[in-house]
Amino acid sequence: MSKPRVFVTRVIPDAGLDKVKSFCDAEIWTDPLPPPREILMEKVRECEGLLSLLTDRVDAPLMDQAGRLKVVSNYAVGFNNIDVDAATKRGIAVGNTPDVLTDATADMAFCLMISAARRVLESNAYLRQGKWKTWEPMGHIGQDLTGRTLGVLGMGRIGSGLAHRCHHGWGMRILYTDVYQNGTAERELGARRVDFDTLLAESDFVSVHTVLSPETRGLFDAKAFKKMKPTAVFVNTARGPIHVAEDLAEALKTGEIFAAGLDVTNPEPLPLDDPLLALPNLVVTPHIASATVSSRNAMAEIAADNLIAGVRGEPLRAWVNPEVTGKPRR
Ligand code: DGY
Repeated sequence: MSKPRVFVTRVIPDAGLDKVKSFCDAEIWTDPLPPPREILMEKVRECEGLLSLLTDRVDAPLMDQAGRLKVVSNYAVGFNNIDVDAATKRGIAVGNTPDVLTDATADMAFCLMISAARRVLESNAYLRQGKWKTWEPMGHIGQDLTGRTLGVLGMGRIGSGLAHRCHHGWGMRILYTDVYQNGTAERELGARRVDFDTLLAESDFVSVHTVLSPETRGLFDAKAFKKMKPTAVFVNTARGPIHVAEDLAEALKTGEIFAAGLDVTNPEPLPLDDPLLALPNLVVTPHIASATVSSRNAMAEIAADNLIAGVRGEPLRAWVNPEVTGKPRR
């Protein structure tokens, strides 16, 4: 029996790639950059499965081009690069990689919080530029974490992971804003659910852990930053378009907020002449929150399992649109 044809849009860890290669007739895009749109359109034409990354736009025109496509397996927990409704309408299963990157991402959010609050990169640059002449009683003074208030936007797995670290490790008070109540966080961390304006006004650290949607796009704009404390630190490890880059730059420049830590930017990659990069009170990393050996291996395994299950018409291990069941596969 011939193996199902699949396209993998980038090299991922062997933990997943080896499985894909043994069960499928796989073409793997080995370039360090994502396949250009027209190449992706061409490559998926005969495929039953697509293993995509968050840098690949998987929309209705692409799915229509791929007439035999049964599954899109995203190598990420987020799936805002995929038009899931369009996939569901076409009977195409969509998979993602939840849970296995929760700790790595919560750690990264914490790393950005403390680095921005304690001015780590700014003082490191000062030292490397030969400006360190003596111990300075008034130099590089930052913000404490202990006993302060963390505001979490989106108290799901990663938001809860960060809140757990901050509450149990640093004795922080936890506020959160979410469409859903999180009873576990309320019981175990004393977290209090508040509206968005209260979150902004009362938090010393505001960390974003929500999905990118029409409701959250541009949520952190000039108005939002003005409502935050001048000592506050803003952290985003979710998706760049949730904050308005120009408004964040202005808030950091004028001291409306103290500092920011970003693992996601808008756009990605951030151009070197972006005004944000001129600001000393910004810590920024290139979307690396899930980049640990165990997280990336586990993501690769789940993505491979999702892909293989999808081409076989079986339930996915992590299924974004299980409602697709029962719909005719094309
Ligand atoms: C995700 O999984 O959505 C992250 O942004 C990348 O790991």
